[in-house]
Amino acid sequence: MKIGIIGLGFVGLSFAVVLGSKGYQVIGIDKNKHHLDLLQQGKSSFFEKDLEKLLKIGIKNKTKFSSSFSELKTCDLIFVTVGTPQRDNGSIDLSMIENVSKKIGNLIKNASKKPIIVIKSTVTPGTAEKVKKIIEKSSGKKNKLGFDLISNPEFLRESQAIKDTIKPHIVVIGGENKNAKKKISQFYKKLHDNVPIIDTNSQTAEMIKYANNSFLATKISYINQIAKICENVPGVNIEDISKSIGADPRIGNSFLNAGPGYGGSCLPKDVKAMIHFSNKLGINPLLLDSVEKINREQIQHVINSSKKLCGTLKSKKIAILGLSFKPNTADIRDSISLDIIKKLVKQNAYVAVHDPKAIENVKKIFKEKIQYCSTVSQVLDGSDLAIIMTAWAEYKKIDNSKLKLMKKPVIVDTRRILDSNKLKCKYFGIGFGN
Ligand code: UDX
Repeated sequence: MKIGIIGLGFVGLSFAVVLGSKGYQVIGIDKNKHHLDLLQQGKSSFFEKDLEKLLKIGIKNKTKFSSSFSELKTCDLIFVTVGTPQRDNGSIDLSMIENVSKKIGNLIKNASKKPIIVIKSTVTPGTAEKVKKIIEKSSGKKNKLGFDLISNPEFLRESQAIKDTIKPHIVVIGGENKNAKKKISQFYKKLHDNVPIIDTNSQTAEMIKYANNSFLATKISYINQIAKICENVPGVNIEDISKSIGADPRIGNSFLNAGPGYGGSCLPKDVKAMIHFSNKLGINPLLLDSVEKINREQIQHVINSSKKLCGTLKSKKIAILGLSFKPNTADIRDSISLDIIKKLVKQNAYVAVHDPKAIENVKKIFKEKIQYCSTVSQVLDGSDLAIIMTAWAEYKKIDNSKLKLMKKPVIVDTRRILDSNKLKCKYFGIGFGN
């Protein structure tokens, strides 16, 4: 079975290397020549644990990378994993999906194979129907006769992309043709042991992804709202609250860590897209509007909490620890740290930043406006305030000897990774009442 994968970002490349390492015949397509050059050498242009290890095995197994769609001509399955970025009004931009669909149609026009085209990208309900029409028009072939179309949203998390690709918690297969769904179902059953499979139609499959991510965002904004209340009740501890309510099996213990708000390439974008989609249908998305609003307000809350501890931020040296939207990735897309830095720079604070992986990405944005530090000691040195934004393991080791480097040991810990009882400093942890 020959498998084509179009779009080699986190989703597409993780899928390609996992399949390649298991001996499947894989051809990965991307338009970024630099990215392709690196891949051919067994290197990735972004960091993800174990990715390069599996990539090298895949290459030995003859995984190929190319920018040419003609390579897909003999594929049985073609997975579409291109990006669906956000427009200014919150809606998603489907132009990459549409372009790729046209190209697939042109490709299969004269092909003897009847491929199954599988959309993994996150798309709003109704997109598969649009894709079907585009492919039918550009190929002159009918759905179910000349090709099949399946909606198969992906749920992997960055920093655990390989693990999640190897063992997903669920596989959702949406489509019209029972035979095509059966083939994809068999493909996944062979790939993953005992994976639960949801067999549904395309629109439902597309909606599942948005409902899933919107719910995760809702859990985070819920706990951030509770955390804010807790901060005003002396002695209340959000950690014990999250642990206890998470132990209720009806609630579940994940996504209850209060923090500076959710970031990354998916949750902010997907909530906004769902809000836009809902409004377009004439449904007022009250809950999701609040989820979004709470998330935005959390940024200002970090700034206000900082001011409470150290007064005006003007001309103060502020150390930002953590730039990536979560640990173990260099990804800074929609990272809350960037919003915090922007606000601090605007208030004429002197900002110094540290991150074990994301510094180079942040340099491209802030250039000479801020100071970039390669060690925790360097970023803390002479600072008036340190804000811990990302729960990188090395920040958990910060002790009094490190705090001594600061001008004044004042910490805003948005992830509560330090034990304030052991530290000699002014301390604020999100969700701790004082
Ligand atoms: C998310 C979804 O989890 C995944 O299923 C989907 O496919 C893509 O979007 P990802 O963006 O990789 O994955 O990150 P995730 O681990 O979900 O974290 C998103 C953001 O929420 C991060 O900024 C994280 O710090 C924040 N978060 C998460 C919290 O603030 N508290 C939590 O309890 C969990």
